[in-house]
Amino acid sequence: MYIGVDYYPEHWPENMIEEDIQGIKELGSNMVRIGEFAWHLMEPKEGHYDFSFFDSVINKLKKQNIDVMFGTPTATFPAWLAKQHPSILSKDENGAVRAFGGRRQYCFNSPLYRKYSAQITEQLVKHYCSEEAIVAWQVDNEFGHEGSDMCYCEQCHKEFQQFLERKYKDINELNEKYGTIFWGQTYNEFTEVPMPVKTITTHSPSLKLDWARFRSFSLNRYAHEQTAIVKKYKGDHQLLTTNVSGGFFDKWFDHEENLEVMDFVSYDNYPVWGGQTEPITPAHIALGHDFNRGLLHKNFWIVEELMGAQGHDVIGYLPRPNQAKMWSYQAFAHGCTNMLYFRWRGMTRGAEQYCYGVVGHDNHYGRRYKEVQSLFSEIVHYEHVLESDIKSDVAVLYDYENIWSWRFQQQSEGFDFTQELLRGYTPFYKLNTPIDVIPASRDFSSYKVLVVPALQIIDEELGKRFTEFTENGGVIIFTFRTGIKDKQNNIHFKQTLPGYVKEITGIEIHEVEALSSTQKAAIKGKGPYEGEESSASVWRDIITPVTAEVLYEYDDPFYNQAAVTKNQFGRGTVYYVGCGIEEQTFEKIALDIVKQQHIEHRESEDGIEVYPRKLGEKSYYFLMNHTSEVKVFKDIVLQPYESRVVENIQP
Ligand code: GAL
Repeated sequence: MYIGVDYYPEHWPENMIEEDIQGIKELGSNMVRIGEFAWHLMEPKEGHYDFSFFDSVINKLKKQNIDVMFGTPTATFPAWLAKQHPSILSKDENGAVRAFGGRRQYCFNSPLYRKYSAQITEQLVKHYCSEEAIVAWQVDNEFGHEGSDMCYCEQCHKEFQQFLERKYKDINELNEKYGTIFWGQTYNEFTEVPMPVKTITTHSPSLKLDWARFRSFSLNRYAHEQTAIVKKYKGDHQLLTTNVSGGFFDKWFDHEENLEVMDFVSYDNYPVWGGQTEPITPAHIALGHDFNRGLLHKNFWIVEELMGAQGHDVIGYLPRPNQAKMWSYQAFAHGCTNMLYFRWRGMTRGAEQYCYGVVGHDNHYGRRYKEVQSLFSEIVHYEHVLESDIKSDVAVLYDYENIWSWRFQQQSEGFDFTQELLRGYTPFYKLNTPIDVIPASRDFSSYKVLVVPALQIIDEELGKRFTEFTENGGVIIFTFRTGIKDKQNNIHFKQTLPGYVKEITGIEIHEVEALSSTQKAAIKGKGPYEGEESSASVWRDIITPVTAEVLYEYDDPFYNQAAVTKNQFGRGTVYYVGCGIEEQTFEKIALDIVKQQHIEHRESEDGIEVYPRKLGEKSYYFLMNHTSEVKVFKDIVLQPYESRVVENIQP
């Protein structure tokens, strides 16, 4: 397995490199990632390629038997290129040019940027195709991160119109589909169609969803062009990846499509970042891993794992001793097979002065160094366990077009897609059962349980797949706003909600209400949950049960109808959660489901995570104490933030 650090030798005096490599080696590393922001160093002037700096670094690394992942440098381009061709710079929603000086400010639709990127990538990969030490290529760096997936320049506008023309062929078809009869927006030709830039009120939802599809198309076309070049010139021994950043549901591109051309997925795991005074929840961190494992449905790498406090202008929480190590154990539990820490040493100059590395700015090899060293020395013993496949009975489904549809029209001030997905994911996470997080387009027939949060776009075909799944004995949990829209982002005409899943849910919805971010609505348990009192937030679907049983109803003088229902259909069961129910309420439902479905799970105290892995007949359990207190799980004492692997656990 590969373990190591992200190393930027170009940031340091040349006479320190050997000493650094020695320190990296003694950390237990056998890999570094280099190069991903060094375009200018490799092409200081147009067409003058010079890889001698990295040649020398690689030779030094080879002496210590350290392999290399090399990043193609297109995430930051040289100043000479921006000066010569300002059209490569992207524009924000107000039409303002994103100035040279940050990173990722290029437009994915700039023909010139595509040309220059292709040239540097080709030269670089050709230069190193037979370099044995380079065993993997990373294409670009964190596609779409930091808002770089959105651009409103003229090049994008023109390409967007062409994209629409290819899709609809006839402008009348677009008019019909968008419903431009509304507000008299009918277009005579494609060149009249605007980008959804700021205007009074809002643009057509159909136009906006097509714009999001176009953004995704633009980014992925660029990414795939770059990938194709690397594939064409790289050596057979060199693998290919690109690194996925956090906040993946807030991006304007389809990640599955982005990654499907890669050999493996790599992920940058930052449980906390600048400005955050505490890390995201353990479930939220786990979701990142399960999402990345879901992209190619196989185990993945982490190429940036946090160790020190991070931030650009504002710094965040400092992981407590052993907490970052525990996050690494958690990542390995959830399918990470190889790991690099970001970054070897914190940089003293430039925008990332406050991104603390494994080694301090003062070159002190202190607590962080020792923590990484201890992790590396322990985890290598489990290499084969880490490589084993993870089998999940529960899948959480998402769909980027649905997510974009929500981003354009939030409907409730309290709505956030990631939070709604976590609302359904967390109860199963807490039961310590493996969960796959996968696109709804994927074959889901082999799972026992599907959690389907806020999937408002459901067409006939997807509706059929859900029906078949239920007929065959599957369990589905839908949450509010399910199935209200078609793929055009329009509301289904002449269909009672929840649209194509009405029959399997056994309910009808005729009234809805958005709750403000501070508002709560009381709900009370019925049937098996009789006597329970709880509350709901974000949204209320006022449900009329047809064949469904009521599990919770609104405690409301006017609309005291069902809030949560359960319906038997075929051999399966379909739950409908019509509002943002509280965690404990969802946990009770999840527990009943895993018990009924005989899904392997383990109840544990809050903050104690137990992740099962299997290698042949043998079981391994990754134990993580996410809390600052000493905890005991089945007679095993876990110190604050302790993590380890055990082979036997009492039932
Ligand atoms: C990542 C990025 C790195 C660095 C790091 C800082 O998102 O890929 O280049 O910026 O964050 O924590």
